[in-house]
Amino acid sequence: MRREKAYISMTRLSVNINKVATLRNARGGNVPDVEHFAKMAQAYGAEGITVHPRPDERHIRRTDVYAIRELITTEFNIEGNPQPPFVDLVLDVKPHQVTLVPDAESQLTSNHGWDTKTHLAKLTTLVRKFKSAGIRVSIFVDPDPEMVEYAKRAGADRVELYTGPYAEIYPEDPKHAIEMYRAAAEKAQEIGLGLNAGHDLNLQNLHAFITAFPWTAEVSIGQALIADALYYGLEDTIRRYKQCLIL
Ligand code: PXP
Repeated sequence: MRREKAYISMTRLSVNINKVATLRNARGGNVPDVEHFAKMAQAYGAEGITVHPRPDERHIRRTDVYAIRELITTEFNIEGNPQPPFVDLVLDVKPHQVTLVPDAESQLTSNHGWDTKTHLAKLTTLVRKFKSAGIRVSIFVDPDPEMVEYAKRAGADRVELYTGPYAEIYPEDPKHAIEMYRAAAEKAQEIGLGLNAGHDLNLQNLHAFITAFPWTAEVSIGQALIADALYYGLEDTIRRYKQCLIL
């Protein structure tokens, strides 16, 4: 009998550390230490660190972004709404990747992607600016092939598919959850646009997504991973998430 060989997919795990900053900010002071956490995550195998500085600095602060930049030997991804202060911060810090997210300031968390068709001109200008500074650009989109297509027209290197709806439907109907993303994921592959994914991914739903779309370059995971780190510890948690990326 032929045994299928397990292999590590190409998908990289980027740990979103916003929630560590939320916990720190709840008390003031520097516990937990966000920089130390980023270093530990990296040491335990995270292939990237993601931060989402918001204008109100309710979790990650601008000073965190500069400090973490110095510590990152893997990939640094800064995500956020490209308002002028964010754009200036990213151009100054020069992370490996910027992910453009259309979230309003008052929003609790990102809950939709860009309408890349309507905002094509604006996105094209932004993408050009970041790329000319040597920063890879990913655009956060809903799983709609047309939005993927227009992200490519804007010049982006990648799209990040918003996986909130995937995670919501997955427990009830995993097949349908995957099928909702197929056209967009395949469109990205077909037109040579890199594929990232993020939002509400967790130990239960991650493996199925990567199995269906093994060309996913990166997953960015925060909320569930940080919660799991409370249960299992950070080292074991990162090991568990990376296990989900083995096909
Ligand atoms: N991707 C984007 C664009 C996000 O805004 C977030 C949340 O900050 C994530 C990924 C990570 O989502 P979660 O915290 O649910 O894993």
